[in-house]
Amino acid sequence: MPVRAWFPTYIYCDKLQKTGLARLNDELADECARLRDFDAAGRRWSAKNYPGGYTSYASMCELHRFSSSFTELERKIRRHVMTYAKALEFDLKGREVFMTDCWVNIMPPTAVHGLHLHPLAFISGTYYVRTPKDCPGLKFEDPRLDRFMAAPPRRLEARAEQKAHVTYPAEAGNVVLFESWLRHEVPQNRVEAERISISFNYNWR
Ligand code: NI
Repeated sequence: MPVRAWFPTYIYCDKLQKTGLARLNDELADECARLRDFDAAGRRWSAKNYPGGYTSYASMCELHRFSSSFTELERKIRRHVMTYAKALEFDLKGREVFMTDCWVNIMPPTAVHGLHLHPLAFISGTYYVRTPKDCPGLKFEDPRLDRFMAAPPRRLEARAEQKAHVTYPAEAGNVVLFESWLRHEVPQNRVEAERISISFNYNWR
C-alpha cells in the first residue's frame, strides 16, 4: 500500500476501576448535588453562561484540592492519564504531571455545551457520574476541519476515522481523555433526567 497515515489524534476511554463503580458514583452524585446547592456564585454564572445547567467551572474549579472525594478521584484518574501520556509518547522523564482544574457539570433536560477546547492544559478529560439512557455523548471534531476547504464530501460508508466527527457515548464509570486542543461539544440533553460529569485538565512542568 503506497499510502500511509500520519499525525494521529488519540482519544482514550476506559472504566475508571474494575469494581465498586455504582457506589462511587452514588457518593459523587450526592457530592455534586450538594456542591450545586452550596455554590451560589456558580449557579449565577451558569444561569448566564450554561443555560439550564450547572457547572462549577467558573467558581469552584479546583475541587481536587478542597474535597477528599475529589482528591481520591484524582488519584484514580491519574493512572489513566499516565497510560494515555505514554501512548502519546511524551517524554516525561524528570517532569511532573499534575491536575490543574477539576469541576462539576450537571446537565438537566435542554442543557447543551457548545464547541470548545481547554486552554492552558495538555491533557483534558471527563469522568461520567450519571448518564441517563439516551443522554448525549461527547462529540469530537476533526482538528483539520478548516483545512478541508475545497475537499469533496466523504462517502457515507467511509471509515469512522475518516469522518469529520466522532461521538463517544456517555457511560457512567468511564473516563474519557483527549489532548486539550481537540475541540468537542456535548449536544443538547433531550432526556428527562440529569446527566452528571466531572471534567478536568492536566498540565506538566
Ligand atoms: Ni470540554
